[in-house]
Amino acid sequence: MPTLKLAPASVSDYRRLAERRLPRFLFDYLDGGAYGEVTLARNVRDFERLELHQRILRDVSARSTATTLFGSELTLPLALSPVGLSGMMAPRGEAVARKVAGAFGIPFCLSTLSVCSVEETAAAGSGPLWFQLYMIRDRGACADLIARARASGVSVLALTVDLPVVGTRYRDVRNTMSGGGGAWARLRKGLLSYALHPAWVLDVGLNGRPHVLGNIAPYAKNASTPADFSAWANASIDPSISWADLAWIRSKWSGPLVIKGILSPEDAQEAVNHGADGIIVSNHGGRQLDGVASSVSMLPRIANKVSGQTALLVDGGVRSGQDILKAMALGADAAMVGRPWVYALAGAGEAGLLAQLNAFHGEFSVSMALTGVNRVTQIDRTIVSLHSASS
Ligand SMILES: Cc1cc2nc3c(=O)[nH]c(=O)nc-3n(C[C@H](O)[C@H](O)[C@H](O)COP(=O)(O)O)c2cc1C
Repeated sequence: MPTLKLAPASVSDYRRLAERRLPRFLFDYLDGGAYGEVTLARNVRDFERLELHQRILRDVSARSTATTLFGSELTLPLALSPVGLSGMMAPRGEAVARKVAGAFGIPFCLSTLSVCSVEETAAAGSGPLWFQLYMIRDRGACADLIARARASGVSVLALTVDLPVVGTRYRDVRNTMSGGGGAWARLRKGLLSYALHPAWVLDVGLNGRPHVLGNIAPYAKNASTPADFSAWANASIDPSISWADLAWIRSKWSGPLVIKGILSPEDAQEAVNHGADGIIVSNHGGRQLDGVASSVSMLPRIANKVSGQTALLVDGGVRSGQDILKAMALGADAAMVGRPWVYALAGAGEAGLLAQLNAFHGEFSVSMALTGVNRVTQIDRTIVSLHSASS
């Protein structure tokens, strides 16, 4: 178990720091998954079960981890997944993450349900900025969000499709963060939790204001607290969304359109048929349908179906540079991380997030060398296999 007196080096170290720093209900919201958290655990475990193949004497002195995605040059085949309410985990969390990701050379994807608006986030840095869209019942609000994203310089629109209804996370229920009238009650009455985390209270609770959800504030007229905004979002995300809506989105957005939350080869093909420029193989980090397969276990089948027709990304359980390499080996053009970037930012601030990204880079580069690969384009299925002993 890593101790807090040692310098953090890995995702699990930053997770521990975040656990120390955040009020319990916020850490649980970030860390938890749906129901019994079976899929949450599966996402990580299935990456661990993949075995890399060590290769030798291949002159790996001139390696490059660089790649190109949607026309942008990236330092590493990695992007930061959208995580709602990140601005409650660190002061102006989304703006800081966009600044760090941009300077490092990877895309940051902003959630619809973020504290910082797309305008504030865009102004905080440079580099590729993506915007994640939930289909809102009020199509006027939806069209306006897309227009604001375009005006802010967003390069990729990611439509999340695995949340027509919001999954239940029992940790949030236990913390009275979800469940009708009790929604986010902790934010108002979690005095013990606040008392135990004075650094968070000062840093985020006071200095990180305002705690409105910047993207949806213009449409959620009577909302003023995160509790109100959460309730608005739960009531406003449209469960009637279907394939037919993609044409409507296309009419509002001409740039690259990515569909996030695909877990079946048939749905992947359907997305391609509807003109998706990219697909994110994802189960929402195990926060929606508990019991569903891990993202990485579905990746090869989805790659077999649509590889070459669309950009392929994957998130859920990526915890190291080795995992990024494994994802690439199984057909992804890039991997994405959700919780890991928020753990680092919440646990150790801007410097922590930069250190975590550098750690991913170092791990990925060393793992390329030890699997005998010099270029991202050389990564293929020959460098990975399923660990037979644990299957
Ligand atoms: C606290 C939390 C909030 C999230 N909010 C969103 C969101 O607003 N929109 C979205 O598309 N995905 C959201 N996700 C899912 C992530 O984008 C991503 O798919 C998932 O975190 C990947 O798994 P990982 O955390 O194991 O990397 C959220 C995930 C977490 C942990």
